[in-house]
Amino acid sequence: METKQLGSTDIIISAIGLGGMPMSLSSRPEEAQSIGVIHRALELGVTLIDTADSYCKDESDKHHNERLIAKALKKYQGNANVTIATKGGLMRPNGDWTRNGNPEHLKETIRNSFEALGGEKPIDVWQYHAPDPQYSIEESLKPAKQAVASGLIQFVGVSNFSVEQIKRAREVVDIVSVQNQYNPWHRQPEFDGVLEYCDREKLTFLPWSPLGGSRRASKLGDIKAIASLAKDKRVSVYAIVLAWVRAKSPCIVPIPGASRVSSIEDSIKSVQVKLSSQEVQQIDNETAA
Ligand SMILES: NC(=O)c1ccc[n+]([C@@H]2O[C@H](COP(=O)([O-])OP(=O)(O)OC[C@H]3O[C@@H](n4cnc5c(N)ncnc54)[C@H](OP(=O)(O)O)[C@@H]3O)[C@@H](O)[C@H]2O)c1
Repeated sequence: METKQLGSTDIIISAIGLGGMPMSLSSRPEEAQSIGVIHRALELGVTLIDTADSYCKDESDKHHNERLIAKALKKYQGNANVTIATKGGLMRPNGDWTRNGNPEHLKETIRNSFEALGGEKPIDVWQYHAPDPQYSIEESLKPAKQAVASGLIQFVGVSNFSVEQIKRAREVVDIVSVQNQYNPWHRQPEFDGVLEYCDREKLTFLPWSPLGGSRRASKLGDIKAIASLAKDKRVSVYAIVLAWVRAKSPCIVPIPGASRVSSIEDSIKSVQVKLSSQEVQQIDNETAA
């Protein structure tokens, strides 16, 4: 498996990660299936798993995905030197998604994520999930800074942040990664400066929903350039899209979600798929800016 450096740290991560969300929302599969997905990803060389306190059914089920990953790692027979990137700052009242940047809440959820992930070592990467306009970035990131100092967190990332917000975050605490939406239907990071900034500043960019998310992923074949490249190269449309995402910048590490073993197996194959600049352009020409 090709690897990348996490930001400018000495942590090495796989060039494709695993997104944990589909294994914990209300449509989640049986636990044994999810554990099978995580184990298969590890066997194939994945050393980055993205999760969040809010990947669960609702507030009563908070931290489900973190506990699931910790359980899978404990059961794993092989050698798993894996980086777990979790998040905090979203709530799930009745299964909805709301923001909560209250520093008291963030302090508590960092502690709960630490416990849910096993409580034996610092959280590898803790990401502030999305800025809450009710609190300043400085206020909301203070608990993360304190948790780094007290040994609960090793590295900090941000998610759903603009360039200005990333700059403000970096005044508070060292930031190693940025996680924003990026896929054929949502190419904003190419145009709002975030991708360019991450590249220049050596921050890892983790595109979320790189395949468009669980509802749109099955429509990728409707994009003619993607379908035709998949046919020519005898790979899936998903592998083509992940190769296209990766071709955009060396700082990009996609985190495709999976709840089936076949999905993560196929996504990992995309590391072998290389697109020429003309092929990248063909997809660009047909996808939204
Ligand atoms: N920071 C944020 O605000 C934010 C928001 C959303 C997501 N995320 C993170 O980003 C990760 C990825 O996003 P996502 O899960 O929403 O969407 P995604 O990765 O774009 O798509 C995931 C869906 O595509 C299917 N899939 C993936 N690879 C496939 C393949 N090779 N062949 C066939 N089907 C494939 C999966 O099916 P199966 O489930 O059937 O395997 C899954 O339902 C999440 O898991 C989460 O960790 C972060």
